[in-house]
Amino acid sequence: MKHEKDWYKNLVIYQIYPRSFKDGNNDGIGDLKGMTEKLDYLKELGINAIWMSPVYASPNVDNGYDISDYFSIMEEFGTMEDWEAFRDGAHKRGIAIIMDLVLNHTSDQHIWFRESRKSRSNPYADYYVWRDPAPDGSAPTNWMSVFGESAWEYVPERDQYYLHLFAKEQPDLNWDNPEAREKILDIVRFWNEKGVDGYRIDAISYLDKGLDGRSNDAELYGTNACVNLEGTHRYIKEMTAKTMAPDNLMTVGEVNINSPQDAMDYASAASGEFNMSIAFVPPIVEIQTWSPEKLKRDLKQDYEVLKEDGWWARFFSNHDKPRQVSLYGNDSTYWKESAKMLACYLHTLPGTPFIYQGEELGMTNVAYSSIEEYDDIDTRNFYKTMLDQGAAPEEALAESQRISRDNSRTPMQWDASDHAGFSEKEPWLGVNPNYRDINAVSQLQDESSIFRFYQKLIALRREHPVMVQGDLTLRCPEEGPVIAYTRSHEATTWLAVHNFSDQEQIYEAEGITLTPDPPVILSNYDAHNRVFKDGNPVLRPYETILFQLG
Ligand code: NOJ
Ligand code: CA
Repeated sequence: MKHEKDWYKNLVIYQIYPRSFKDGNNDGIGDLKGMTEKLDYLKELGINAIWMSPVYASPNVDNGYDISDYFSIMEEFGTMEDWEAFRDGAHKRGIAIIMDLVLNHTSDQHIWFRESRKSRSNPYADYYVWRDPAPDGSAPTNWMSVFGESAWEYVPERDQYYLHLFAKEQPDLNWDNPEAREKILDIVRFWNEKGVDGYRIDAISYLDKGLDGRSNDAELYGTNACVNLEGTHRYIKEMTAKTMAPDNLMTVGEVNINSPQDAMDYASAASGEFNMSIAFVPPIVEIQTWSPEKLKRDLKQDYEVLKEDGWWARFFSNHDKPRQVSLYGNDSTYWKESAKMLACYLHTLPGTPFIYQGEELGMTNVAYSSIEEYDDIDTRNFYKTMLDQGAAPEEALAESQRISRDNSRTPMQWDASDHAGFSEKEPWLGVNPNYRDINAVSQLQDESSIFRFYQKLIALRREHPVMVQGDLTLRCPEEGPVIAYTRSHEATTWLAVHNFSDQEQIYEAEGITLTPDPPVILSNYDAHNRVFKDGNPVLRPYETILFQLG
């Protein structure tokens, strides 16, 4: 659907992981009918765009990120009519539809690949990345796939290997082939015709594999070896210009950002690639490296790099990450406070906020008691690799619990009835046992709930241009767990202060003077007993305050 330029800046995007959102026909698997049933809930929350993880036909080796037919809907999720009903229901409520495009690879069950693997001379022979074996018959390079093991798979019919940066059932497409490229763009054209409003584009920084003349001197993940190469940027620009820019469709690329230049390349208007980017960081790396100090550094740098000419996707969660309240907050003593603080942080920054399903309820990580209960291909491979490397099963399980993508994929917690109201049948993945306490029905009845707090934040964004257009200045020391910044637009200045710790912190404002007790727009604690020390607010654990300064 055609849109105004820059319309994406006013969006609040809600990500649905369809398999886990709502089961409409009670077979234990979330689906499009279920999604349509819950549109009023999303309208009440206030979001105005939905990004759905893939709903196309797929053998589900990687839960829909392995697509066997881009023009039809996965049977378990319903029919094309169900998709259209969802689209119409969303549009009727003023909610835009953002589809997930997986264009780096297909499923090995896609007709192109089934043909391609048959011989070196069939019409699809060059649609994928095929290479001859090394002289000793081994794989062409030493690249590893993201999910473990070699990134190459041998096919006797061709006496060649094909590249798969992800699972071996996800062969990489050959973007260097102009005919294949046009066919790939036809997928986008098809969905454009269907009236979608934008795209989240999966794993898009690896299109150019840069294989020619490669040496094997380093042990590398394939995705590190071929990330952000020149050809990738060329192909993205071509795709954007031909299929997305003409109607100003919203675009967010899932990419790898290794330098400020990468951020500019992917998300500045001048480069003609995406409106914004989602930087992929492996969960294990994020768990080990994040800190409030790092958040501040990254925030400052991202802002500087893109403030003239770009835009930001603001998120802590998605279907590849642990639950945000468990990772960045505190999912026990300060569960409610920290869930709200994280929300206030994301929604008061310049950029477009993304909410991952269940985040608005403060859903937490799960810890299944055996590896069999995990579904995620990444977790299962990770567990196996740990065992192979000599870890004890308990240790491998504990690590898997921490990093598993299933933490965010447990069924949505709608109410306190069996299976959390997600389905009447045993769901495909176990519900988090805390659903009797954490669920939508109870939070809708509670004015102080996390859901109600999200609702307020989203409404503020709609009503106050400073939230969308205001500039950003950091107002806190580089050290320590307090993150604070002002947003200014015309005569309005707001100050947001967040305590990323479970200890009291005194906030000493930098570069501004806080008049005693400035008006508070929003906070996660009762304002009446707020304490000031020498004019500086004393922040309680995970406290967040949005002050109005002018
Ligand atoms: C990123 C997606 O978010 C993830 O879920 C998927 O496994 C890979 N790309 C491969 O498509
Ligand atoms: Ca179902």
